[in-house]
Amino acid sequence: MGAVAIQNEREFVFKRADFDKVRASLMQKAGIRLTEAKDGLVYSRLAKRIRALGLSSFAEYLDYVESSKAEQEQFINALTTNLTSFFREPHHFDALADYLQAHPQTTTIWCAASSTGEEPYSIAMVVAEAFGSFRTPVKIIASDIDSNVLATAREGVYPLKSIERISHVRRQQFFHRGRGANSDKVRVVKELRDMVQFRQLNLHQADWGFNQPVDIVFCRNVMIYFDKETQLKVLARMVRLLKPDGLYVAGHSENFNHQSHLVTPIGKTLYRPVKAANGE
Ligand SMILES: C[S@@+](CC[C@H](N)C(=O)[O-])C[C@H]1O[C@@H](n2cnc3c(N)ncnc32)[C@H](O)[C@@H]1O
Repeated sequence: MGAVAIQNEREFVFKRADFDKVRASLMQKAGIRLTEAKDGLVYSRLAKRIRALGLSSFAEYLDYVESSKAEQEQFINALTTNLTSFFREPHHFDALADYLQAHPQTTTIWCAASSTGEEPYSIAMVVAEAFGSFRTPVKIIASDIDSNVLATAREGVYPLKSIERISHVRRQQFFHRGRGANSDKVRVVKELRDMVQFRQLNLHQADWGFNQPVDIVFCRNVMIYFDKETQLKVLARMVRLLKPDGLYVAGHSENFNHQSHLVTPIGKTLYRPVKAANGE
C-alpha cells in the first residue's frame, strides 16, 4: 500500500511538514528523537488527541500545543513509550541486593524513568528484603516525564498476569489480590507504595531538583530515545549526582563502555561513576 493510499484512509490530513513539526517539538521539549519510521505511530497517537479536542487537522492541533501548557503535557504523554515490567532484566536486582549488602549506609536510590511503577516497586521489594522491613533508611525516588504513567504508578494496581513470574513469597508479601470484579488485578501493598516517592521530572530540563548526592541511579531504557548528545549530557549530570562509590544501572541496549571519562563498567550494563579530582 503506497503513502497516498494510507493518507486517503486517514481521518485527518497529516502532511510531511506536520510530522517534521512534531519531531522538532518533541526533541525540544523532551529530548526524544523520533525516527522517520515513526510517522504511523505519531499519526495514531495524536489523532486521538485531535478527536478528543474536537479539532479538525494536525496543523490546528500543533498550533494549539504551542499555546497550551496542559496540552504540551498530553502531547508528550501521547508520544512516550512506556513498556516495562516487574523485575525486568533480573540481574540488575541481584546486583542491587549485593550492593545493599556491601553498602548498608545507602540512603538514596533514584529510578529516573519509572514509567507505570513496576521498576521502582521491584527496587522497593529488594530494599525491603535487604533490611527485613518496610521501614528502611533508603529513600526511593521514582520519576518520569509522563504524568499518566505516574498516576498509574501511584495507584499501584496491575493486572494479575503482570506478577505471574514473581516468586510466590514476594507475591504473598508485596501484593493484595483484588476481589469480585477485580479478581484479575493486584495492588502493591501500602507499606511498599509508601517506600517510593513519585515525581514528574523531565531529564531534558535544566534542574532536576536534587540537593543531595545519590547512591544508585536506575536509568534504564530511556536513553535509547535520546540522541547521542542528549544521552551524554544526561549521563554526565547523573555521574555528577552519584556518590563516588555509587552505581549507575543502564538498560539492556544502552552501552556506555566507551565513555571511560564518565563511567567504568563493573558488570552487565552496570557502571561506577568516574569522579574528577574536584569531586565533580
Ligand atoms: C520504555 S520506558 C522504560 C521504563 C523502565 N525504566 C524500564 O526499563 O522498564 C521509558 C520511559 O521513559 C520516559 N521518558 C521519556 N523521555 C523522558 C524524559 N525526557 N524525561 C523523563 N522520562 C522520560 C517515558 O515516559 C517512559 O515511561
